[in-house]
Amino acid sequence: MTGKPNLRTDSLVVAAGRPPRRTGAPVNPPVVLSSTYIGVDTPGAEDLLYARYDTESWRPLEDAIGALEGSTRRALAYGSGMAAISAALALVRNGTTLVMPRHSYNVALVAARAHAEQRDLTLVEVDIADTAEVQAALEVTDSPTLWLESPTNPMLEIADIPALVSATRERGGLVIADNTFATPLGQQPLALGVHVVVHSVTKYLAGHSDVVMGAAVTDDPDLWSRLKTHRDVHGAVPGPWEAWLALRGLRTLALRVQRSQQSALDLAQRLEEHPAALEVRHPGLASHPQHERAAAQMTGFGSIITLRPHGGAAAAAAIAGAVELWVPGTSLGGVESLIERRRRLPSEPVTVPEDLLRLSVGIEDVEDLAEDLLAALEASQR
Ligand SMILES: Cc1ncc(COP(=O)(O)O)c(C=O)c1O
Repeated sequence: MTGKPNLRTDSLVVAAGRPPRRTGAPVNPPVVLSSTYIGVDTPGAEDLLYARYDTESWRPLEDAIGALEGSTRRALAYGSGMAAISAALALVRNGTTLVMPRHSYNVALVAARAHAEQRDLTLVEVDIADTAEVQAALEVTDSPTLWLESPTNPMLEIADIPALVSATRERGGLVIADNTFATPLGQQPLALGVHVVVHSVTKYLAGHSDVVMGAAVTDDPDLWSRLKTHRDVHGAVPGPWEAWLALRGLRTLALRVQRSQQSALDLAQRLEEHPAALEVRHPGLASHPQHERAAAQMTGFGSIITLRPHGGAAAAAAIAGAVELWVPGTSLGGVESLIERRRRLPSEPVTVPEDLLRLSVGIEDVEDLAEDLLAALEASQR
């Protein structure tokens, strides 16, 4: 990885996953296009065998993401965030309860509901910000699994992670956290006692909306092996080019996150004061219901804002249709700012308001972003 241990995360994004230092060695890892490796019949050999199991193209990225999340083990890379989520959901034992935020990423909820239907598993969907409600759900069976997404997508609810981790651990349970929104720079779930972290690398980690990839991180050797076996058997692996692109994107994560978070808070404050805004949410706003909780457990408030304009779903759709710099579309975490009325997606929970726009703030000049958005917001009111 790097000769210098204990680097801060802003340095790790740059330094982790580099090839060993020797004269004439490349500064960046190579892309290796080979499905198989030369191997002799040597029992116990640790060499690379076949590119569904392990490749030198994944390793640098896996080392970097593992180190960023504070694990002593490398991350496991997957072909998408959903592949990592599917591997993590397979850790949930039969005969137990899975407690999940009712506003988790909607496809993660679809996957969890399929597990509950097909297996001996009780799924309880909760308001993750309501600690008493979550604690009650954790008491339904022994060894519950708590799925955390904090902030949630798209409602931006914040869970009391330390309290919920200790309630789950007291019952011999497992805690899995989707850390996509916060990034390891904004939140360190393993340090808060979470067992497994999953990521949609597609979003902030890769950061340029040109790669679909996922990752899972754990420091627990047994959980790591079970996740690895799931990947070996189900085969949801990334390609070498994707891993290389994701690592290249990761190198600027600290700068991108710093810029987009600063712009997000600035825009949220301006929107909140605008008469055309019915409701504005961002964890960094003092008006956010869990602002204090976010400040206590996060080191950044993230770059997502939700906006509900006056005029309902029609006004929201008009705003997404009128912006010229913001890009109307799904996804988040790229250098470009994205805007989407979430309920246009049929799988989005009906408790997400019809008029809710999710804004993913990128790294453009904040004044240009504000001018474009406010012009569209004002036009939607005429
Ligand atoms: C919070 C969150 N987790 C997971 C995913 C799924 O990731 P992917 O699209 O890479 O499969 C998404 C995608 O939007 C997401 O927003």
